[in-house]
Amino acid sequence: MKNVLIIGSTGQIGTELTLELRRIYNGNIVAGYIPGAEPKGELLESGPSIVVDITQDKQIAEAVHKYKVDTIYNLAALLSATAETKPQLAWKIGMDGLFNVLEVAREFGCAVFTPSSIGVFGNNTPKDRTPQDTIRSPRTMYGVTKVSGELLSDYYFIRFGVDTRSVRFPGLISHIAPPGGGTTDYAVDIYHSAAKGERFVCPIAAGTFMDMMYMPDALSAAIGLMEADPARLIHRNAFNVTAMSFDPEMIYANIRKYVPELVMDYAVDPLRQAIADSWPNSLDDSCAREEWGWNPAYDLDAMTRDMLTQLRKRG
Ligand code: SER
Repeated sequence: MKNVLIIGSTGQIGTELTLELRRIYNGNIVAGYIPGAEPKGELLESGPSIVVDITQDKQIAEAVHKYKVDTIYNLAALLSATAETKPQLAWKIGMDGLFNVLEVAREFGCAVFTPSSIGVFGNNTPKDRTPQDTIRSPRTMYGVTKVSGELLSDYYFIRFGVDTRSVRFPGLISHIAPPGGGTTDYAVDIYHSAAKGERFVCPIAAGTFMDMMYMPDALSAAIGLMEADPARLIHRNAFNVTAMSFDPEMIYANIRKYVPELVMDYAVDPLRQAIADSWPNSLDDSCAREEWGWNPAYDLDAMTRDMLTQLRKRG
């Protein structure tokens, strides 16, 4: 029996992670949401849901108490490009919010998963096969909150024994909930254009390589790490994880194998391009593989086939 609270359950990751957790566990799998982002359809009908604004510590504590929660998935965040336009709000959600979650976890003895990101790295980090333990000095608010979040989560583990764990997600690609406001969003949008028969205008320049991952692998990373034997974990916050690395030309060429008529032009967005340029070209995720058996199932071609099939089914 496992009782889980998902904060941000209607967002990009939460929408699918909540359903996956309900498929796996038979306890209370509680969908936390903010007013205006209510769960709908299967997400609403398949289990309990409750208003949890991460900036309100009492709401987190009440939900944890009510449903006897033992694990919190803290998915509330603004993605990188949005965070640059609203840095104060990004801090409030990313840092004040995380502090609230960790304090409740300390009080009630919960484990905590908080996604980190390739955004923790910056211009002076080694770009190729970026190591697990290396320079983290980002110049974006998103990156600043993610690095600080990693440090704070490790602090709560060392100082208070809170079971905090995290992965540095790359760009996540899914046919279900849209990302919105991220630097890697183009790799989702191009599939929608391909499936609809529309021209795709790419905001990221050719030759810009970034790590990416298909959502089923992201879900198995989050759940796999939380189920890992703690005795094997040398690292905690946060593990490099990746499934593939590509630039716009590579994903375009791959999609054209199945949608030869797809046309792509470029209109580079300077904000997103500067962020992308500061991130790694490819991560070394060998620590995650060794310490808890991380092993993604989808490469670019397998992801493309599934994305196009799923999007076409929906019409
Ligand atoms: N997908 C995220 C973003 O682009 C990276 O963590 O902001």
